[in-house]
Amino acid sequence: METPLTQHIVANRPPLSLKEYEQVGGYQSVRKVLKQMTPAEVTELVKASNLKGRGGAGFSTGMKWSFVPMDVPGPKYLICNADEMEPGTFKDRLLLEGNPHQLIEGMIVAAYAIQANVSYVFLRWAYKLAAHEITKAIQEAYDAGYLGKNILGTGFNLDMHLHTGVGRYICGEETALINALQGKRANPRAKPPFPQVSGLYGKPTIVNNVETLSCLPHIVNNGAEWFKGLSKSEDSGTKLYGVSGKVKRPGTWELPMGITVRELLEEYAGGMKDDVQFRGLLPGGASTDFLVEEHLDLKMDYPSITKAGSRMGTGTMIVLDDKTCPVGFVLNLQHFFAQESCGFCTPCRDGLPWVEKILLAMERGEGKPEHMNILEFHTQFLGPGNTFCALAPGAMEPLQSALKYFRADFERHITEHKCPWK
Ligand code: NAI
Repeated sequence: METPLTQHIVANRPPLSLKEYEQVGGYQSVRKVLKQMTPAEVTELVKASNLKGRGGAGFSTGMKWSFVPMDVPGPKYLICNADEMEPGTFKDRLLLEGNPHQLIEGMIVAAYAIQANVSYVFLRWAYKLAAHEITKAIQEAYDAGYLGKNILGTGFNLDMHLHTGVGRYICGEETALINALQGKRANPRAKPPFPQVSGLYGKPTIVNNVETLSCLPHIVNNGAEWFKGLSKSEDSGTKLYGVSGKVKRPGTWELPMGITVRELLEEYAGGMKDDVQFRGLLPGGASTDFLVEEHLDLKMDYPSITKAGSRMGTGTMIVLDDKTCPVGFVLNLQHFFAQESCGFCTPCRDGLPWVEKILLAMERGEGKPEHMNILEFHTQFLGPGNTFCALAPGAMEPLQSALKYFRADFERHITEHKCPWK
């Protein structure tokens, strides 16, 4: 099984230095694109590879780049979204700490494709080790002539800056991230216009996730067909999947796209711990709908999980077991989302704390029969189209699916005037 993204990541040792990275073929894709390909050819290659954005939404990377107006004079920007804060998600961290040069190489490829001369890594505040490794790797890349002016004598210029956030979930939303980078309050902006047309300082900007960018050197070196062939499904490539919860071996693995939910849970994560039973899982971080027993043989790819009524999101699942109260589980997530709302749009700002309050009342044995309808109402009221960004609709996904699959457990909290798990 090929694991191109993680092949040089070794536990408990620092990432490859520039020299070591070059010895295993590092920065070859930069030579290739800058010396042998036009920007349009790079975009076409990435389109043909069917690489989909690994941040959670699964939007075609090549198509996203193709929206950048190449004939407009003036600056363009590339931003790496490394603000990994989706609960249960710890895949980009592995790449950031484990092989920062691979990310930088991918960023040079992407910047060349869109002809950006300035790029940023927007990093989650808490990722201190990653900040250290990236700072070091960026300096090494400047010293070796992969960054800066006239890269490899080709006339292409690229500067790269590390920007650390201050620990707000909303900064992972691309337009909020752009506002934060400009020193403004991190409220999302309306889309359209999409950042590809009007992003940082109103200029064409591409925001790509760490894992997405890390795929690029391999696609350039090995071709679109090779990338497609890595996968077991219609989505291309490998994927960094993860599992957390009461399983025997929680962790992150690079596996062919389209591995089944069951393989991931039982073979890689070792199945449930001996004293608990499986009840359900959120397939891609907290802002996705529950999958249950009947979904275990689904492929973990974007279309299969969407067809089942959820989303693959970040591909890092959170597992619910029978010794954990589903209401308490969802309450914990809603507390997070309510706290992380930017407060700009009313449904999100006021709706999420209201949902949290009701779930808390249920957990305390103070739930009322009408609470079920109020929760149902909020899953619609805070749903897609009613809020400014995807935060509140994402928050409603675990709630609406918990009400579907674990409804009796919610009702027991009300009829028994207590949490049955306490
Ligand atoms: P989105 O679907 O609105 O956009 C995804 C990307 O595609 C964006 O870059 C957007 O500009 C582009 N795009 C979408 N439709 C387009 C169109 N019609 N024209 C041009 N470009 C278009 O999703 P969004 O709000 O950016 O991200 C939501 C996802 O983020 C969720 O799926 C969630 O799983 C994930 N997420 C991940 C986090 C993490 O830590 N990795 C944290 C929070 C959310």
